[in-house]
Amino acid sequence: MRSALVALVAVVVVGVVVVIAVSSRGSEADGPVLSDAARQGQQLAVQRSCVGCHGRDGEGGVGPAWVGLYGSTVTLDDGSTVVADRAYLLESIRDPRAKQVAGYGKMPVDSIGDADIAAIVAYIEELASPSAATPP
Ligand code: HEC
Repeated sequence: MRSALVALVAVVVVGVVVVIAVSSRGSEADGPVLSDAARQGQQLAVQRSCVGCHGRDGEGGVGPAWVGLYGSTVTLDDGSTVVADRAYLLESIRDPRAKQVAGYGKMPVDSIGDADIAAIVAYIEELASPSAATPP
């Protein structure tokens, strides 16, 4: 009777360990490995509903994708091109009307503080490298 109890406890313990191992592996595979600033930016992008247009993981939607945006060349609606550097990202968020990306509608203007913008830009920058989007 006692050994049956010990066996039962052992089975439960092993089960719990397996569940913890599997779930922690799942959370690592959840998304890109981000710095603290970028993680904060990711949360702000959710809170400010940016992700509604730019995608839950920056994959794009009504608005252009953020994955691979940083450092890429963006074509504007007047046919000119611009490199999506930090200054461009800051401006695009602070003043969405300053430059209009070709092939997309208008982004709504939203008042957003500089610190929040900087955090979101850090997030967008870290979405630039494919290794950030798919952790090894
Ligand atoms: C209602 C949809 C919508 C929401 C909400 C939205 N955007 Fe946009 N965003 C767009 C569209 C459409 C464009 C492309 C047009 C343009 O250039 O303004 C764009 C462009 C951008 C660009 C430039 C992208 C590029 O490819 O050059 C950045 C950066 C950006 N948005 C960031 C943000 C951030 C940060 C937020 C939240 C504070 C946000 N957006 C909220 C629709 C949206």
